[in-house]
Amino acid sequence: MYFDTHAHYDSSKFDADRDAVLRALPESGVTLVVDPGDNTERSARAVDLAQTYPFLYAAVGWHPEEAEGWTDESLDEIRALARRPKVVAIGEIGLDYYWDKTHCDLQKRMFRAQLELALELDLPVIVHDRDAHGDCLELVRGYDGLRGVFHCFSGSVEMAQALLRRGWYLGFDGPITYKNAVRALEVLRACPMDRILLETDSPYLAPVPNRGRRNDSRNLPYIAAVVAREKGLTTEEVAAATMENGKQLFGIR
Ligand code: NI
Repeated sequence: MYFDTHAHYDSSKFDADRDAVLRALPESGVTLVVDPGDNTERSARAVDLAQTYPFLYAAVGWHPEEAEGWTDESLDEIRALARRPKVVAIGEIGLDYYWDKTHCDLQKRMFRAQLELALELDLPVIVHDRDAHGDCLELVRGYDGLRGVFHCFSGSVEMAQALLRRGWYLGFDGPITYKNAVRALEVLRACPMDRILLETDSPYLAPVPNRGRRNDSRNLPYIAAVVAREKGLTTEEVAAATMENGKQLFGIR
C-alpha cells in the first residue's frame, strides 16, 4: 500500500478523466494521497476533492509561482480553508528562483506569512524549493517548532542533514529514476528511512519508464523501486515505511 504525499489532482490536466484516475488508485495499491493547492482557488478545489474521495487529503497554500495573484486577503482565505475537514498541511509554499527572479521579496513575504500560519494552526508545511536553497533554509530555520517536508528535495547532502537534524522530512519524486540523477541519490542514501516520503508531483515529473507523459499516483512504485535499490530493501518495505512516515507527519490515523 502506497501513500502519494504530493499529487495535484486539482490540476486542469485531470479535467477530462479525474474521477476515473482517482477511482482507480485504491485498487492499484495507492491508498492515501495528499493534494496540495497552489492558490486559493486550487486549494479550495483540493479541499472539495477531499470531501469526495475518502483516501484523499488536502493541503492549502499559495505556491511561489503564483506570487502575482497574492493579495492582502489571500492569507485569510487560506486560514479559512485550513479549518475545513481533512486539511492536513499548509502547502505548497516556498521559493522558486528558477521560474521567477523578479518577485523574490514578495515570495519571501508570502512564504513567511504561510509558515507563521502553519505554526498558528499547528499544521506541518509542504515546501517547494527550486534554486532557492540558501534562502529556504534560512527562512525555515527562523521558526522554532516548524515541521514539514521539503518536497522533491534538490539540495545538497549538507542541506539535507541540516534539515534532518531539525526534524524535517524529505520528499523523493520521479527525478530519482532519471539517468542523470546523482546528487538526489546521494541525498537519498544519506537520509534515514524514517524521514523519507514518496511523492509523484502529478501531473508533473513522471518517473522512468513513463517520463514525459502525464503523471499520476500509479507511477509511485517506480520511485519506490529506486529507494528500495539504494537502501537494500524490498519495495514492499519501502512502501510500508513511507506510508507510516506520511501518516506520522500529516497526523492521519
Ligand atoms: Ni507540487
